[in-house]
Amino acid sequence: MGKDVIVACDFSSATAVYEFLDKFTDRKPFVKIGMELFYAEGPSIVKEIKKRGHKIFLDLKLHDIPNTVKKAMAVLSNLDVDICNLHAGGTGRMMEAALEGLTRPDGTRPLLIAVTQLTSTDQESMENDLLIKEPIDKVVMHYAATAKKAGLDGVVCSPLEAGKVHEICGNDFLTITPGVRFADGDIGDQRRVMTPAEAKKIGSDYIVVGRPITAAEDVVAAYNRCVEEFIG
Ligand code: C5P
Repeated sequence: MGKDVIVACDFSSATAVYEFLDKFTDRKPFVKIGMELFYAEGPSIVKEIKKRGHKIFLDLKLHDIPNTVKKAMAVLSNLDVDICNLHAGGTGRMMEAALEGLTRPDGTRPLLIAVTQLTSTDQESMENDLLIKEPIDKVVMHYAATAKKAGLDGVVCSPLEAGKVHEICGNDFLTITPGVRFADGDIGDQRRVMTPAEAKKIGSDYIVVGRPITAAEDVVAAYNRCVEEFIG
């Protein structure tokens, strides 16, 4: 899979997401399904969106004991998603078990991506709540390296971290980056943002874009603008 724009479909019902996707008659966007939509509608939402011709990033961020994650990943793999993810904080052993569960009998599997420290976790909460005293940038890069060692395909990170992740883990190790905004757009609750063109320059492999597309007046035009800026 090459560079692509992934649309964060943060809708609360199947009706809302279908109404949005129905507008795309030409190029079918790569879609991110998160916890809200998945928990509201169940696995059928994944099957239906897949049937409509979209690639799917199922963003459920698994984190449990290795055996439980392995079995859950086998179920997700059967849903035929293209990308799924977990928390690197579950350790290398959990990540290795996840890969095992994800791999189908014919050897194929969805891409598996790790979340490092969430961007909502800051230095202070990491030190006080998790008792991790190292600088957060170092922790993020260490989690990325652990994910790579376990055989994962990449990490979700800020576009500002993508270059460093590639330096440490190699250019083949994928970076999926949210926090993308148009230069003339509203940044909303995101703090550290980049335009699609900047994310391209810095080497992001996939950008995850939600509201700049889903809340646009012309959603197809906003999506096409994103693709144009990011992929060219
Ligand atoms: O609407 P917006 O473009 O901000 O959506 C970004 C998407 O990426 C949301 O689904 C959000 O949960 C997700 N995300 C994020 N920052 C992270 C990890 C995930 O914005 N660090």
